[in-house]
Amino acid sequence: MPTRICVLFGLLCLASLCCGSNKPGEVLLVIACPPHPQQARSDCLALSHNVLEQQRALELAGIFPEDFVLKVHVMHELFNSWTMLDALPHLRAQARVLGARTEWIIWCQHNTRVSSLRGLLEQLRRQNPRELAFYGHALYDAEATIIHHFSNYKDPQRFPYPMLSAGVVFTGALLRRLADLVAPSGQNITVHSDFSIDASHELARFIFDNVSPDPHISTPISGGILLKSASYICSTPTSVPNRKLPCLLHAQPEEPLTLGQRRNGCEHTTGSHIYFAIKTCAKFHKERIPIIERTWAADARNRRYYSDVADVGIPAIGTGIPNVQTGHCAKTMAILQLSLKDIGKQLDIRWLMLVDDDTLLSLHLIHTHLPTSVPRVSALLCRHNATELVYLGQRYGYRLHAPDGFNYHTGGAGIVLSLPLVRLIVQRCSCPSASAPDDMILGYCLQALGVPAIHVAGMHQARPQDYAGELLQLHAPLTFHKFWNTDPEHTYRRWLGGSMVNRSAPLAAHKEQPAAGPLHMTMGRHSLAAGVGLLQQTGLGKHLDL
Ligand SMILES: *[C@@H]1O[C@H](CO)[C@@H](O)[C@H](O)[C@H]1NC(C)=O
Ligand SMILES: *[C@@H]1O[C@H](CO)[C@@H](O)[C@H](O)[C@H]1NC(C)=O
Ligand SMILES: *[C@@H]1O[C@H](CO)[C@@H](O)[C@H](O)[C@H]1NC(C)=O
Repeated sequence: MPTRICVLFGLLCLASLCCGSNKPGEVLLVIACPPHPQQARSDCLALSHNVLEQQRALELAGIFPEDFVLKVHVMHELFNSWTMLDALPHLRAQARVLGARTEWIIWCQHNTRVSSLRGLLEQLRRQNPRELAFYGHALYDAEATIIHHFSNYKDPQRFPYPMLSAGVVFTGALLRRLADLVAPSGQNITVHSDFSIDASHELARFIFDNVSPDPHISTPISGGILLKSASYICSTPTSVPNRKLPCLLHAQPEEPLTLGQRRNGCEHTTGSHIYFAIKTCAKFHKERIPIIERTWAADARNRRYYSDVADVGIPAIGTGIPNVQTGHCAKTMAILQLSLKDIGKQLDIRWLMLVDDDTLLSLHLIHTHLPTSVPRVSALLCRHNATELVYLGQRYGYRLHAPDGFNYHTGGAGIVLSLPLVRLIVQRCSCPSASAPDDMILGYCLQALGVPAIHVAGMHQARPQDYAGELLQLHAPLTFHKFWNTDPEHTYRRWLGGSMVNRSAPLAAHKEQPAAGPLHMTMGRHSLAAGVGLLQQTGLGKHLDL
């Protein structure tokens, strides 16, 4: 094989004679790998092994395309770089990874599968590596959605963005260009928000806004580069009949739990091990709580409503914190303290789930091929260890490009905390002001304490119609949020596997009603001053009620 010879004897023969203009192009397969849970890391390694096995088999058979050199790189997410744009500088810094010779980058996630490396390389040979282009399975919004910052307001249905778990193929030319743009010394770039919500849409938008199709024009012009929809990149492993091309890259739906995982304590994580703290306020007692009682509450034995005022009719526990329009930091901290007191010595309870009064969640069974079914929330929790510091939810980012940026779990989707973590928060986190945004302050504090925000794909800050349907198919949804302009009971039946309850289920007996007086938060245990200045500057009121 001439390429091999050239590599081995590169020093002996003149490159121009040996390889000339036929220098093999470098194909880089990057697996962006989340550090938690353990299962995701194993999936990343399995994908990497699988691709290398395919490569070895092709080489043994003498059919590995000679014009390509393949490099596989498992990129462990650095603390904040789950968004590709924020990961790029790291990829660039390691010059070995993204170099001048890289022609193609196949960007995968832990749940991406390469069904035919040979087919993929043959496909790449038919595409032009010098073009500024990227290829993927295109998703479209049905309407302008808050999770995409209401962008492409007039025509959201025509703006394609890639399904990241299906894999995305970039030309080296485009990725080098992007790396230049996001470098600290980079040019003026247009970014619409300091919030990272959907890394995929934000990436497509950034490319469209900042990269001009003509590499000689340095100023971005609008009408930039759009994702190219590639039929060889698929949303599911099964290919549709009559396809012109087979699926070469695809997303792998979440695996049901293995028996081994279930033996490791899964069955024990039933509803009785979770304490649900539901955050409400007087003006919603009549409007929202009946909906919760008719839907998921019946399966949530340990549930408490925490309000600004006590209300025996529900019953709701008063936190003594007046309701405000903006952030609920003081209220949330009070809820965590009151919940710990309420949980007291109930050894059964291992987790606390903090939700809004307009959050819907699924405590229902998912049917698997296994002998029995597992409630969705249990299936999530038994992948984690309740004796450790565990912080689960739908991860958003704030100013991830900056040194003071941080991840946090957005409140409406629900936040799951292990009990040791609740105790740590109560000891170490405090509110810079009573009306600071609770979810962000929590994320900021936990990042300072070194507790990672672990993303859960099935948890949602918005309504089902705010997400692409194919994404909802990939992971069994666990939560949705907002009753606005939607029928929550329909959402509960259609997406969360629920059935209605025809009367309010009685609440679990209260052991002891916590005192309803105002709580005095100890301030300054963990200084959040810097973060707060920054949060206040950006007018977070807008974000809060997403
Ligand atoms: C960036 O934008 C600012 C203000 O719009 C302008 O003054 C500056 O010249 C621009 N810099 C570059 C490198 O284009
Ligand atoms: C959970 O974590 C604790 C403390 O790190 C450890 O001792 C225990 O073995 C873990 N349990 C499981 C099931 O991994
Ligand atoms: C709920 O129960 C009442 C009284 O038993 C009955 O009249 C009503 O039809 C029921 N509603 C539903 C939705 O089943």
